[in-house]
Amino acid sequence: MTRTYAVTGCASGMGLAVANQLRAQGHSVIGVDRHDAEVVADLSETHGRRAAADAVLASCDSRLDGAVLAAGLGPRTGAERAILDVNFLGVVELLEAWRPALAATDEAKVVVFSSNATTVTPLVPRRAVTALLQRDLDRALRHLRWRGRLAPTVAYAASKIALSRWVRRESTTVDWAGHGIRLNALAPGAVMTPLLAEQLEDARQGRFVRTFPVPLGGFGDAAQLADWALFMLSDAATFLCGSVVFVDGGSDEYLRAEDWPTPVPSWRLPFYGARFLEFGRRIAGDHGLSPTSRA
Ligand code: NAI
Repeated sequence: MTRTYAVTGCASGMGLAVANQLRAQGHSVIGVDRHDAEVVADLSETHGRRAAADAVLASCDSRLDGAVLAAGLGPRTGAERAILDVNFLGVVELLEAWRPALAATDEAKVVVFSSNATTVTPLVPRRAVTALLQRDLDRALRHLRWRGRLAPTVAYAASKIALSRWVRRESTTVDWAGHGIRLNALAPGAVMTPLLAEQLEDARQGRFVRTFPVPLGGFGDAAQLADWALFMLSDAATFLCGSVVFVDGGSDEYLRAEDWPTPVPSWRLPFYGARFLEFGRRIAGDHGLSPTSRA
């Protein structure tokens, strides 16, 4: 069956590999990027994001079978604001605009590109992540600038942590799961693309990337990560909801093996109970996620 997908960051690296593979399977792709795309737009600007969202909706007749959000900026000195704009708002604002079009098709699937930077980057201020989730980029930047020369690296990690949290929070809600939309994130490690090449050329970043522990060795391959994205768009992923799938050669596991899974702490039990009750009310009110729609 031919399906229609929106793919951001389609002009380079993993977004390009995803678009190529989808097209090779006979699907229709509406690409979004700053150049070489069906929809040319700058996702670092509010009006660019709005224009991109509208142009895609016009091209797909307000029906999308899925979306892959791969546009992103790596840690680049002086680009902290753009990193937050593109990597966080460039995903969530587009997805919020496309949500009705995704809900209009059966079992739409969305893959958001996160990163293993979320779990392996030290010194990310929690307050910056909170500010980002509240869409207060100025406040987030103030918290990040305290990190001095580390600010670009920390801004990158903060943008991807906020993005992953947003995916996990939203994915299970009536708006997303309740409308059959499977919203998940893919978290690659170091993958050889123009983004990584730029990091390797930078003296400080390059040293960090080269000495970074990757138990399987080497760098990931864009086409292999695209395989994972396509798997997460396939029928095999129909029961996947709010997952952050790490494909990083073992770096996260090497550095954080003991941190997860952890048992539910007793002080969380009241929250736990409240979530159970809330879910029961949701089913009783038939606000999506009914036992039949979950089957
Ligand atoms: P890439 O640099 O090859 O491709 C990123 C694409 O995003 C480019 O085509 C670029 O033009 C587009 N883009 C950047 N800023 C934009 C803007 N303002 N408006 C519109 N488009 C814009 O990068 P790569 O490596 O393929 O990255 C894809 C995603 O994977 C990104 O979100 C990145 O953060 C993430 N990622 C990459 C890793 C890596 O090692 N390459 C590791 C983990 C995550």
